[in-house]
Amino acid sequence: MADPNSTDEALVRLEDPERRGLTGTTPADAFEVARDPEDVSRAPDPADERHPPQWRQDFPIDWPKDEHVARREFARFLVLTSSAFVAGQGFIAAQHLIRERRPAAAERRKVTALSALPVGAAAVFSYPGEHDKCIAVRLQDGSIVAFSQACTHLSCAVIPKVEEGVFFCPCHEGYFDLRTGRNIAGPPPRPLPRILLETQGDDVYAVGVEQRTVT
Ligand code: FES
Repeated sequence: MADPNSTDEALVRLEDPERRGLTGTTPADAFEVARDPEDVSRAPDPADERHPPQWRQDFPIDWPKDEHVARREFARFLVLTSSAFVAGQGFIAAQHLIRERRPAAAERRKVTALSALPVGAAAVFSYPGEHDKCIAVRLQDGSIVAFSQACTHLSCAVIPKVEEGVFFCPCHEGYFDLRTGRNIAGPPPRPLPRILLETQGDDVYAVGVEQRTVT
């Protein structure tokens, strides 16, 4: 009869199938959780994109692809905004060219009467459009000059200061010569557009606009 206290006997009993699961006798893999293969996280396999693992179907965000899409979207955004900017600049340039080439003699329109404009006085009128405000001034020598009233800086209305011989822009203290419309001080970058005049009897007519880009 075997000695119940012998080590060999104890090992045999511990390995008995009925004792499986008891502390000290359980094989290391006895309680390993049986896992659904679909639950197992595995790296995406580019070669098997049509059969992604379940977790990938539940969370289909792919960071590399997502970043790629984000970059592509950003590039598209840049292209679109740049195109819009270029189109806007093109539109402005086209408008400028059209305005530059617009026939100077847009229309003959009465401005004032000589008798109604004494020396040193000024008269405001619209030319060539209803919203194109201009100003005519009777100079000391009796002649009349007329210019657009819109300052060439930011389009504020200029005010004649006949005694000082200038048009004054109160917005940023710009000055133009009263006789020539030339920009002489302050931020205005160009002379005032000159309104071409014709006198017929007592009537003074505007017959065109002279755009000037240099002083
Ligand atoms: S708008 Fe006339 S000086 Fe600025």
